Amino acid sequence: MGLRIGDTAPNFQADTTEGKIDFHEWLGDSWGILYSHPADFTPVCTTEIGRTAQLKDEFAKRNTKVAVVSVDDVKSHNEWKKDVNETQNTSVEFPIIGDEDKKVANLYDMIHENASETATVRSVFFIGPDKKIKATIVYPASTGRNFAEILRVIDSLQLSAKHPVATPADWVPGNDVIIGLGVKDEEIEAKFPKGHKIIKPYLRTTPQPE
Ligand code: BEZ
Repeated sequence: MGLRIGDTAPNFQADTTEGKIDFHEWLGDSWGILYSHPADFTPVCTTEIGRTAQLKDEFAKRNTKVAVVSVDDVKSHNEWKKDVNETQNTSVEFPIIGDEDKKVANLYDMIHENASETATVRSVFFIGPDKKIKATIVYPASTGRNFAEILRVIDSLQLSAKHPVATPADWVPGNDVIIGLGVKDEEIEAKFPKGHKIIKPYLRTTPQPE
């Protein structure tokens, strides 16, 4: 059975391009993204690693650390990193995990045998400061990830962690949010002083809290 929302993100120790890490220790109190890519020296993966490096400040703003895994070794990752830096005009400074024994890939169920018996798919795990899995997204090898969506999911998760709200379809930061079903009508004014709308008893919105 694969990992599900609410499960503890399994801990592991691994060699990475940034040295040896104990995953939970490395995460500390931060939010985390752990994502897999199928293989080094491949085109879509090159753009994804590059995009992640370019978004360094966006992840930092969200107190979110990123680690990446594929079943290649660290020597290969380090060689490939040079190509990523050169072609994507960036500097990769986050850990790319060497996983030639597939320890992490198997722990996180990142190899989907009916897609490929050996390579990882493009899994993304969103991990909270409590080390629980908050969301997952999985793409096939042929689809490069949308990093705007990854940042948007982090924003939504962090907002819901702080306030009793949910985010509606196609929400982007700054849009109105949905007041959680656990909030009683009579509590709304105190909890959401920016105002609110009651569209239906179960559909109540408010401007995004700070
Ligand atoms: C790629 O990153 O381009 C890729 C890797 C494995 C299979 C297909 C595409």
